[in-house]
Amino acid sequence: MLKKLGRNDLCWCKSGKKYKYCHEEMDSKIAEFKRKGCIVPTRDLIKNEEQIAKIRESAKINVAVLDYVAENIKAGMSTAEIDKLVYDKTTELGGIPAPLNYEGFPKSVCISINDEVCHGIPSDDIILMDGDIVNVDCSTIYNGYFSDSSRMFMIGNVPEEMKRLVEVTKECVEIGLKEVKPYAFLGDMGEAVHNHAVKNGYSVVEDIGGHGVGLKFHEEPWVSYVSRKGTEMLLVPGMMFTIEPMVNMGEPDIYIDEDNGWTVYTDDGLPSAQWEIQVLVTNDGYEVIAW
Ligand code: MF3
Ligand code: CO
Repeated sequence: MLKKLGRNDLCWCKSGKKYKYCHEEMDSKIAEFKRKGCIVPTRDLIKNEEQIAKIRESAKINVAVLDYVAENIKAGMSTAEIDKLVYDKTTELGGIPAPLNYEGFPKSVCISINDEVCHGIPSDDIILMDGDIVNVDCSTIYNGYFSDSSRMFMIGNVPEEMKRLVEVTKECVEIGLKEVKPYAFLGDMGEAVHNHAVKNGYSVVEDIGGHGVGLKFHEEPWVSYVSRKGTEMLLVPGMMFTIEPMVNMGEPDIYIDEDNGWTVYTDDGLPSAQWEIQVLVTNDGYEVIAW
């Protein structure tokens, strides 16, 4: 039987502070929501300051790698060349690309073009062409801490309606982000993202979502962008997760490439866009950890 943590004992979060000056108040609020039947985070999802600082270091590399991609990406390049840029920059900065060998993923980054929704595998045979919209999804391990973010790139002259898809998808993330605050629900964010996409005539992929991140690549909670206000997990300071909606120009239906087991496509062949940010719930709102 575990002894109940006293107010003067050291906090369970390993901050070194007394429980009464650390997570005691938060714990009682969480317990109240739990009594009401809400889904609440377990302790392992609540990061302390030291862990957050280390995750920020990881994210700094992730962002630098995406900046490096942004400087170099252009028509005529193969996605394998971008993969090499990602591997070289990540390792130069002391990190490890998290996708490499993750559940058998063979490359350092996911690159998904046009009707590819996500998890595209870089290849010598895939050449970026004028008019393509491309998602580059980078994830970094640094000193054992994880970061994950992705951006869209538009190659040369992109048709107006595809540009709009890319821009609206970015707005979806920004609008969802505003809902991130202590004692709100993950579904508040999900609904905001979904509403903005639908309002613009688009759909949101239901079967693939975001995730908790930081101490592991993929942690709880699973994050939906078609969820409803007041549902899903309660948000509390110290939680960290991704906002990474996949927004489709047409229908939300998708399928996975049978040959490689990874690449996800839209069923109707219409384009899909995705931006991904890593966000921390703070005492008064949010902090963007990586974008
Ligand atoms: N960044 C992607 C995600 O969080 C990683 C997918 S796993 C990989 O959805 F192996 F494909 F990288
Ligand atoms: Co992710």
